[in-house]
Amino acid sequence: MSSVAPLVSLLRHGFIPGSDRIVDRYGRTFTYLRVSVTDLCNLRCVYCMPDEGMKWLPRDEILSFEEIVTVVEAAAAVGVYKIRLTGGEPLVRSDIAALTGMVARVPGITDLALTTNGTRLAELAIPLALAGLKRINISLDTMDPTKFKAIARRHELSEVLEGIRAAQNAGLNPIKINMVVLGGLNDAEVADFASMTLDQDLDVRFIEYMPLEEAKGCAMGSGNFSFVSNELTKQRIAARFGTLEPLETGDTMKGPAEVFRLKNAAGRLGFISAMSAPFCQKCDRLRLTATGEIRSCLLDGGGIPIKQMLRNGGTRADIIAAFRESADIKPEVHKDWANIPAASMSQIGG
Ligand code: GTP
Ligand code: 5AD
Ligand code: SF4
Repeated sequence: MSSVAPLVSLLRHGFIPGSDRIVDRYGRTFTYLRVSVTDLCNLRCVYCMPDEGMKWLPRDEILSFEEIVTVVEAAAAVGVYKIRLTGGEPLVRSDIAALTGMVARVPGITDLALTTNGTRLAELAIPLALAGLKRINISLDTMDPTKFKAIARRHELSEVLEGIRAAQNAGLNPIKINMVVLGGLNDAEVADFASMTLDQDLDVRFIEYMPLEEAKGCAMGSGNFSFVSNELTKQRIAARFGTLEPLETGDTMKGPAEVFRLKNAAGRLGFISAMSAPFCQKCDRLRLTATGEIRSCLLDGGGIPIKQMLRNGGTRADIIAAFRESADIKPEVHKDWANIPAASMSQIGG
């Protein structure tokens, strides 16, 4: 920022981005807010939701676009520069491109990303890019249409593959493909997934399954798949392609993934190992749930509800106070997996 920029921002917007950062008891500074825009989803991935009987939140329980933007503005005022829109599936929320544009215009937000299942991306990639979306993470757990039906239980693999091509054509970059590795379902495909990076400038990320309460009930509990560690996934990839070369991670690559490259590859491999190598110590994120709770940890309960406050004329200072309250209760490391509180990934936003 140039020397006059803070003053211009103060006069124009009433705040200087990042002038009063949020730091927790363990010295972690929050610069990243994950915003869940809906609990709805048009898939039923086995590790996330039951096949039938999902109960969706009533519309008025969900924050409006204006309420979301008010929270993002407050976050930007205390140094958050990175926003990720998530769900549920964010692209099933109507007018998501309009919300994307509203968030992109918030002063101080320089990195705007979205995580999607890709099923609606073929039609939305260009509107999202035009609205100011910079980059995108797309879930893809298998390249086999029959297995796709078994894992996601809805829609077609071809729609997601088309969505990935549309994101590439729209110039979104980087594009990160998220594969949750599920023993007995898709783990035989990890080397094929890695091979996508040989000639495409993509990130393919291998994610260890996290036994969140809801998923425990609907997935592992029913014996559909087994846990696969990223150590084993790395070995399987190295067995086909040789040693994985570790890479330094820049700002858009910072985050939970350890990043590598195959020899002479155009893209990168990421490993998100929440189970075998938790990354709590470098966690720089807060979350806003679809129902308007601020959460400082995906896995540790402790939401600060702000929806009523927003609807009753709460001020930016009130929102910032809620961020600080949330940061104050952020655990140093989340609880043992056996003791994490019941949580719904689709409401918290992954
Ligand atoms: P970038 O690194 O910014 O691209 O995003 P990301 O990888 O954090 O986001 P994405 O939505 O693609 O999530 C990838 C995986 O990481 C998903 O399985 C998330 O549930 C998981 N994840 C994201 N944030 C956290 C976190 O704070 N804790 C844990 N345990 N898992 C997380
Ligand atoms: N464990 C690990 N990753 C999960 N995701 C959803 N549920 C789980 C889970 N239980 C992933 C999705 C998506 C991202 C937002 O979170 O596949 O890529
Ligand atoms: Fe939907 Fe994502 Fe959950 Fe799959 S993991 S059911 S795409 S919210």
